[in-house]
Amino acid sequence: MSLLITGGTVIGPTGAIAADVLVDGETIAAIFAPGQGPGVETLDATGKYVIPGGIDAHTHMELPFGGTSASDTFDTGTRAAAYGGTTTIIDFAVQRTGEVVQDGLAAWHAKADGNCHIDYAFHMILGGVDDDSLKAMDQLVADEGVTSFKLFMAYPGVFYSDDGQILRAMQKARDNGSMIMMHAENGIAIDVLVQQALARGETDPIYHGITRPEALEAEATHRAIALAEVARDCPLYIVHLSASRALEHVAAARDAGRNVFAETCPQYLYLTLEDQLGAPGFEGAKWVCSTPLRSKHESHQRDLWRGLRSNDLAIVSTDHCPFCFKDQKERGVGDFSKIPNGIGGVEHRVDLVYQGVVDGKLSVERWVETISTTPARMFGLYPKKGVIAPGSDADIVLYDPNGRTRISVETHHMNMDHSAYEGYEIAGRVDTVLSRGEVIVSDGTYHGAKGRGRYLRRGLSSYLV
Ligand code: URP
Ligand code: ZN
Ligand code: ZN
Repeated sequence: MSLLITGGTVIGPTGAIAADVLVDGETIAAIFAPGQGPGVETLDATGKYVIPGGIDAHTHMELPFGGTSASDTFDTGTRAAAYGGTTTIIDFAVQRTGEVVQDGLAAWHAKADGNCHIDYAFHMILGGVDDDSLKAMDQLVADEGVTSFKLFMAYPGVFYSDDGQILRAMQKARDNGSMIMMHAENGIAIDVLVQQALARGETDPIYHGITRPEALEAEATHRAIALAEVARDCPLYIVHLSASRALEHVAAARDAGRNVFAETCPQYLYLTLEDQLGAPGFEGAKWVCSTPLRSKHESHQRDLWRGLRSNDLAIVSTDHCPFCFKDQKERGVGDFSKIPNGIGGVEHRVDLVYQGVVDGKLSVERWVETISTTPARMFGLYPKKGVIAPGSDADIVLYDPNGRTRISVETHHMNMDHSAYEGYEIAGRVDTVLSRGEVIVSDGTYHGAKGRGRYLRRGLSSYLV
């Protein structure tokens, strides 16, 4: 079946053009000058932006973490993502320490298979780097379409890898063409600070942030960049970058022509240590995540927006890892170190970054690049995803710049009993969402179905220098 999207403004990283988009079945067939398309069924996009569907390159559906599990399943989380204009997620499959990597991947397929509303792919968390997992990296790249691996400099005893393990994994990634993603915080030092704070009776959620200082994110970021250099410029992607000094290290590496990239997340662009983590009583637990929210008295948010403009920050992902306040976040009453780490936001990323356009912090083209085109290129999904072009999947969002979105737990679709962005007003609105040619959201109504989402085998990054 053919559908002609008429009257809209098509946005890509290279510019905005008035054009009509012909969808044939699951793919984009052609782009026409306005009014020049064939006489088929039409979808009116007058006054709307026509953009490639959002790609959230960092989610954690059903992640077992902090003694509980992230509260969105692949069913609830991908449906919520669709509502918010995201048509692809890349979730993190997990190899626990001591587990066979392929078994961890199979467990993630079992969670996702038949449950997703939109297309999905996987990165692999390596909870242990040894001869077996290094061999498994080759197999995942060659056979499974998993071409990126996350390591942790944080969380000793859980996901932590030491520098030798990191170096070996980077050398392997350099050889097989994959990417190392890094949680860059000095977890050994952080654990000392956490124990010292608890011993002083400092148990409130704000101490989660205070015991994870910027210096320890910057140090780990710098160390990861150095290790990647030693591994003959292994491609390195810093996840959930939150702080100015970490960004400086990424910028310096990029200025030197290195294959070093980074993402930030909406929470770091909008929320702060004082206003959210420091909320009265135990309320701040809602915003416990790592890396933590940073101080509003420093220049982090201004620097992160600047980094997005300059491409020192390539992508905005959510690090969607929701936990309900009741029973889940409450595990940490009286001890902030027991609060499960994570914030949910998969539904709001397209809107929250668009607000940066409204506020004059990003161009409309850069909005599309950071939420869709670059994630596709970075993680081997381009040009199937991330662009409105003939031959690409018809994952398309009609975005209404004259609409409004009010974020609230009352109206969101994520499986969370609170919203990290409660009451936020966005001067824009997701109007219609197509996933592979099918209208799955229109005017706030859902038309998709559980199980229609497909697993995407990814290629190697096409973003490297
Ligand atoms: O707090 C966070 N970020 N939770 C999810 C796990 C991770 O480190 O990405
Ligand atoms: Zn992380
Ligand atoms: Zn994460």
